[in-house]
Amino acid sequence: MFNLNAFYLLPFIIYYVAAVPTRSADGEMNNIHLPFNSLSNDWFHDDDHPVHALFKRAPGEDIEFPSIGTPAWASGYPPGPPDPALLPVEWVRALEEAIAAGKIPDIPQTTNYQGSSPVYPYGINPSSPEICSSTYKCRIPGDFWDSPNGVFGSSFDDGPTPSTPLLVDFLSSVNQTTTHFMIGIKMLYQPTQLQAMIDAGHDLAIHTWTHPYMTTLDNYQILGQLGWTMQLIYNSTGGRLAKFWRPPYGDSDRRVTAIAREVFGLRTVIWNYDTDDWIATPQEIGSSMSQFLAAPKSPGLMVLSHELTDMMVYAFIKSFPEIGANGWRFSSLAKALEDGRPYQDSSSSGAHNLHPDGIVLDVEPYTSTELTPSPSATDLVTSSAITPSPSAISANTADVTKSSTALRTFPLYLPVYIYLWTFCAIGALGFSL
Ligand SMILES: *[C@@H]1O[C@H](CO)[C@@H](O)[C@H](O)[C@H]1NC(C)=O
Ligand SMILES: *[C@@H]1O[C@H](CO)[C@@H](O)[C@H](O)[C@H]1NC(C)=O
Repeated sequence: MFNLNAFYLLPFIIYYVAAVPTRSADGEMNNIHLPFNSLSNDWFHDDDHPVHALFKRAPGEDIEFPSIGTPAWASGYPPGPPDPALLPVEWVRALEEAIAAGKIPDIPQTTNYQGSSPVYPYGINPSSPEICSSTYKCRIPGDFWDSPNGVFGSSFDDGPTPSTPLLVDFLSSVNQTTTHFMIGIKMLYQPTQLQAMIDAGHDLAIHTWTHPYMTTLDNYQILGQLGWTMQLIYNSTGGRLAKFWRPPYGDSDRRVTAIAREVFGLRTVIWNYDTDDWIATPQEIGSSMSQFLAAPKSPGLMVLSHELTDMMVYAFIKSFPEIGANGWRFSSLAKALEDGRPYQDSSSSGAHNLHPDGIVLDVEPYTSTELTPSPSATDLVTSSAITPSPSAISANTADVTKSSTALRTFPLYLPVYIYLWTFCAIGALGFSL
């Protein structure tokens, strides 16, 4: 006779089994997939993890992450370039400790006149080992410019965008995933596309909050650009800590890279081939790709690609069969580097939005009402243009479960596009921030 008491206990047994972290011999956390809201602790960092103090969890408290696209999910983030005066105190403390420990080189900020390559103050050599600017092709040891030999390490910058579902659907059709270097503020306005990436098990990495030239920023601005993007990925993936970041325009140096690494544990990733897909024709992209794919297998390929338009995605789709045909092994970039774990605290990606233990960041919430936009930001856009209206957010939420809503929801994102385009246009005209 079946014992009903045991039946009632089953969920609790599953819960406790799931809550016990398991490690394999090499120390890597195993990944247990169980139904019933039972994300195991497997991908959570231990208490002694370096960024534990920055992205905390509170074991035992039944806290859930808000669903992607809801007002609760979106409200805690800066609506524009992060204000250095409104950073979580833990991040600031971690930065100041790293500076005091001599881990962050004291390198002057650059300026970039007319949107051109950033320049250092007179007398500073950007290619010297002490500065080592990636804009000037100087490679800091430990940064990634190449994939492993024989590997086509796939990644796309500047997402999420309305073209993201096209990319995700194609990769699903060939049973592959990729790594997305995400712009934080775009995630807020493209929750459907963000959800599509996560549902398909893609790997998320950081491309900063508003896509600035990072060497032009001061240390606290850098902290906000990286930290908020990391926080939003963390809160959108059930607590995953991004492991990789790519500087916009490939612009980093020893100071910026050290802040990413010492404060947030992030590894800097550049690229070794560029199709200029954001400016080239599909034919030009195709012929560049053919040329790169014919190259020797050492080093591995790390081709800069963007998911900004359908055209760029179609150009990739067209070249895709050539990757295997030329003998390359296709891999999501984040799974091709180092130990193959795409996150600092997880060997897996996926659609996990809830955790029985919950996670809290132990700081005052960052609300847009407290925000004092920098004067340059206020000059460019009105706050109504950059703050999502509650109706826009809830409209997006309703669409999260549907696929290919890009075109229907496009008008909702129009203010953001205007905002981002304004930055680009003004940069091009020479009134850069
Ligand atoms: C991240 O999620 C936690 C847990 O729900 C929440 O306490 C925190 O406020 C969220 N952070 C932001 C910036 O929304
Ligand atoms: C899809 O890829 C996964 C992981 O690489 C592999 O385990 C699986 O067998 C593949 N499935 C098909 C149908 O090729």
